Parts: sequence; C-alpha cells; structure tokens
Amino acid sequence: MKILVFVGSYRRNGNTDQVTGLIKEHLHKQAEQHRTPLEIETIYLGQQNLQFCRGCRICYDRGEEHCPVKDDLLAIKAKMQAADGILLASPVYVDDVSGITKNFIDRLCHVCHRPQFAGKVAYVVATTGGSRTGKTLETMTMALRTWGFHIAGQSGYKMGALMKRDKSRAQFDTRAAQAARQLFTAIHQHRYKQPSFFSLMMFKIQQMSWQTDGIPGTPDYHYWEQQGWFHSKRSFFIPHEAKWLKVALARFTGIVISKFVN
Ligand SMILES: Cc1cc2nc3c(=O)[nH]c(=O)nc-3n(C[C@H](O)[C@H](O)[C@H](O)COP(=O)(O)O)c2cc1C
Repeated sequence: MKILVFVGSYRRNGNTDQVTGLIKEHLHKQAEQHRTPLEIETIYLGQQNLQFCRGCRICYDRGEEHCPVKDDLLAIKAKMQAADGILLASPVYVDDVSGITKNFIDRLCHVCHRPQFAGKVAYVVATTGGSRTGKTLETMTMALRTWGFHIAGQSGYKMGALMKRDKSRAQFDTRAAQAARQLFTAIHQHRYKQPSFFSLMMFKIQQMSWQTDGIPGTPDYHYWEQQGWFHSKRSFFIPHEAKWLKVALARFTGIVISKFVN
C-alpha cells in the first residue's frame, strides 16, 4: 500500500506537520496489524517548485501537458496516480486553506474536468489556532471529490499558534489513531467501490453537463468519451457495488439538479 501525505504549511515541525506525523505513526501500526507492506511519502507543499496558475486555461483547452508553467506539478500528480491514497492537510488561514494548499488545488483544476483519481482514497485534515475548521475541510473535500477520490474522512485540530509536541501527542493521539484507521481501512477494504450518494449524484450532473455543453474534439469531451463515461448505463467513473436504489435516487436527483444548473 502506498500513501502520499501532503503538508500544506511552510512550517516544518509546525502544527500540521505534527498532526500528520501522528497519523503516519498510526498508519504504520495499522499496516503492522494487517501485515500489509506500507510505503508513506511526505510532500511538503512549501518546499516544492509549484508556481501560481496563470489562468491561461491551456490545461483545459489543450491538455495539462501543454501548461506553460514547467515545475513540479506533473511529477507530483504522477506520484498521486501511483499511490492508493492521500492525506491532505492544511492549516486554517483566515477561515480557509493556506495559500500553498489552494495553489496546489488550483494547479490541478483540469482534474475537476477530467477526473483521474477514481478508485483512490483521501483523508483530509485541518489544524487551526482556535477558530472553526469546517470551511477549510470543505474546500479540500470538495476538490478531492471532484477529482474522483473517495473521501475516507476528515478531522480538525485546534492547536493555537504552535503546540508543543508532547502536548499535541497527549491531546490528539486518539483522534490521529482514528484518522489513520479510517484511511487505512478505506484503502484496505476497497471502500471506493461504495461511492456515496453525493458522489453518484455529482457524476450524473457532470455527465449531463459534458453531454449538453461539452464541445466534441476538446480534451475534456475526448477524455469523457474515451473513458466511456457518456454511456447512458454508466453511473460512476469506475465499476462499483453501490445498492441499485441509492444509484437510482442519486441519478434522479442529479438529473433534476442538472435542469437548473446546465
Ligand atoms: C496567515 C495565517 C492565517 C491564520 N488564520 C487563522 C484563522 O483564521 N483562524 C485560526 O483559528 N487560526 C488561524 N491561524 C493559525 C493557524 O491556523 C494555526 O496556528 C495552524 O495550526 C498553524 O499550522 P502550521 O504550524 O502547520 O503552519 C492563521 C495563521 C496564519 C499564519
């Protein structure tokens, strides 16, 4: 099993680094318990060469390989494609994700149009000085869901300006163990085969949107067509085991919402 951990803070040994460190320890414990080989790689977003999106839309219109910004993005994306799951963690900056986390999400905007991570699992973490983590977690889960990830769970950690390491362990070890268990189990038990109602509904909305507004010949349209996702019987990006009633209701809700959205 391969898991990629993203730390969306510049601070090494900061709060986010500490929490992801605890979760990593517990992931290794889970792997030992289940006798599963586990490889974890940590990517500090602040230490990567990730420039800002220039808004040229070339990734949308011609394909991401034509992006004029030549930096670490596509290498990082290749690592995500080779992993079974990711842990994405950001500090709360003014009630939302940090700038480097948002830039990372923005740079992968083409994946919102051409989802490439179905069958992979994500867990989301936010650390905060004292205020709520809800919006920060939502920004990350919304993006990851749109990219096709199965969301195993999310958790927030109130830690002040910089928590001492022994204190963060004492206070958050149980929550970190729970986070590790959720992420590990979702990968180990292939929970992505059970897409949520929301994910099934979003698939239907996206499918109808590309069918109505998509322009044949564009990378987006071509990608959807190539994957066979326009087929009327297709209810999700990958073959799944969701109950037929959930699928039917999600499709129906998706169709109704599409009438207003598209
Ligand atoms: C630019 C900036 C903005 C922040 N905004 C908030 C905020 O809106 N609410 C809050 O409770 N904490 C805020 N904080 C505190 C951090 O969210 C908190 O200390 C976090 O755990 C730091 O994680 P790190 O050590 O990994 O960078 C902010 C910190 C910085 C540097």
